[in-house]
Amino acid sequence: MKLMVLILAAGKGTRMKSELPKVLFESAGSPMIDYVVDSARAVSASHINVVIGNGAELVREQLGESVNYCVQTEQRGTGDAVMSAEKDLENFDGKVLILCGDMPLVKADTLQTFIDKSTKHPISFISVKVKKPTGYGRVIRGIDDTVLRIVEEKDASDDEKRVNEVNTGIYLCDAKELLTRLKNIDNNNAQGEYYLTDIVADGAFAYLAKDEKQFLGVNNRVQLSEAGKQIWIERAEEHMMNGVSILDPNTFYADKNVTIEPDVTIYPNVTLQGEVTLKKGTVVYPGSRIVDSEIGENCEIKDNCLITEAVVGEGCKIGPMAQLRPGSVLKGNNKLGNFVETKKAVFDIGAQASHLTYVGDAEIGKNVNIGCGTITCNYDGFNKYKTIIGDNVFVGSDVQLVAPVTIGEGALIAAGSTITKDVPADALGITRAKQQNLAGWVSKWKKDK
Ligand code: UD1
Ligand code: CA
Repeated sequence: MKLMVLILAAGKGTRMKSELPKVLFESAGSPMIDYVVDSARAVSASHINVVIGNGAELVREQLGESVNYCVQTEQRGTGDAVMSAEKDLENFDGKVLILCGDMPLVKADTLQTFIDKSTKHPISFISVKVKKPTGYGRVIRGIDDTVLRIVEEKDASDDEKRVNEVNTGIYLCDAKELLTRLKNIDNNNAQGEYYLTDIVADGAFAYLAKDEKQFLGVNNRVQLSEAGKQIWIERAEEHMMNGVSILDPNTFYADKNVTIEPDVTIYPNVTLQGEVTLKKGTVVYPGSRIVDSEIGENCEIKDNCLITEAVVGEGCKIGPMAQLRPGSVLKGNNKLGNFVETKKAVFDIGAQASHLTYVGDAEIGKNVNIGCGTITCNYDGFNKYKTIIGDNVFVGSDVQLVAPVTIGEGALIAAGSTITKDVPADALGITRAKQQNLAGWVSKWKKDK
């Protein structure tokens, strides 16, 4: 059997109240249309056609050349959307699977089962019984249980509104039969649109699916968040089955390209975005967000850290409240404590900065200790400069390292110093005004007031 998939994605998405085309809204970190295209790819179709219109260029940009496009110039309803593929349908002698771009939860195996059960019928669709049918087209059946028609919410009588079997918006049709029927539909309804649903009025097979959850059509932002929640929970469950402890799957937000090894523990309210890898034995405490980064084995990411485009080696302790910005590399057994910010900074094994520090554009040697309040002054308003610190250097508290500057191996920088010149290996670098103690000064000053 030849199969073509047609995905409807041209609608305005009026109910989202946004400039962004609806199908590009993200659900659990990916645009909704991506999920639909992914499941379309999983059924073996000869090609995938996406109907675009509203925000066409943006949708095209998102999906690229991997699919074909039909353009619906004016959004005159779902029936009209399918008609925009008329040329392809005319030349196609096979089945067409029609999907909506606003249904991110449908699983590929559900589509496959539907296809297998429906091939012998010229026109079929998936229906499902739901607790709250509001907003969906209702499936109206005759006394012998055959499908008479689908009636949209806005056209339905009070009796019809009580029907809880709804149209999911997924159809399997013979291309020729689909075209013939589409040519006969009109826009004589409450919305003045050409309804694709009208094709079932000349007889259709309704495949009654069981899992209501998969057929959520996202029309507004409340439904968008419902869809996202469901995907996030499913991902959490998958990770847990793979040996990851997730304390509260309801507040675990992992994108699809997140890899987590067994024996990782994740506390509540953790967000993992983009390509993230967490290696075994690592613990991520509450409130942290990790983006496009790799965290090695047995690390501790304490509360409320933000880690972006960083590579963290094994046995590191980070946070609470630390920020690793792009280009931060910790080679292993490093410690970055509270209010430490790093950017384009490489920390060799065992180097640490335990409190209140900014390290940017820097190379930090093995076992270096950077004291509280140290700052690399890497920017003069025009250019960025580098700070290089050799192995085993001890930087005292409240030091400013004015880059470009190099500190040799084993040197010691005295607390409170502003270092503007290189410090040789093994030397003490110190820049401090001499301290004076003026005896009895305070009480005299108070008396004079
Ligand atoms: C549609 C069905 C309804 C079903 C529901 C399932 C119709 C008339 N109604 O209603 O029976 O219960 O889906 O979720 O089909 N689109 C276009 N061009 C258009 C209009 C829409 O490409 O001119 C696309 C949209 O981008 C969307 C899909 O078609 O991806 C469905 O459109 P939408 O307006 O969301 O239809 P519903 O009102 O949800
Ligand atoms: Ca919809």
